[in-house]
Amino acid sequence: MMDKPTSPGMYFGADAAGYADAIRGYIDNEIYSSKYYELLARKAPSGKRKQTILKMSQDEIKHAKKLATAYFLATGNHYFSQPPGLYNRIPPFRIALRERFKEEYAASAKYSKTAEETDDSLLQELLGSLAQDERRHAAELQEMIEESI
Ligand SMILES: [Fe+2]
Repeated sequence: MMDKPTSPGMYFGADAAGYADAIRGYIDNEIYSSKYYELLARKAPSGKRKQTILKMSQDEIKHAKKLATAYFLATGNHYFSQPPGLYNRIPPFRIALRERFKEEYAASAKYSKTAEETDDSLLQELLGSLAQDERRHAAELQEMIEESI
């Protein structure tokens, strides 16, 4: 049976609004990650790796925008955080790759868990697709570590 568009809790509805705090946290994390990659790209030892990392930075900003759109549709409120000042906080290249590998997997797991919990089909879809992107990022980071061994 098809769900009616007017069903409560569907399509960035009340159920999604119940995740407002979590979604704000996700937006913060995406913007943090985007900034981190932007700075990390400057430390990349090759042009190819620099491009891969810059692409991840762009992906994370897109994720933040998708989440902020979902947040607005669900709550009617605007939320978008400022990029953090991280200038002295990026460790040496390979250590940063390891840190990001763990962060990407943690983000993917969080998104998958919330996607399973919510009854809102659009929030499920969005978080499912973000979880896949973060897993891909983790795989790309793993590959870059392999190349540096
Ligand atoms: Fe992301």
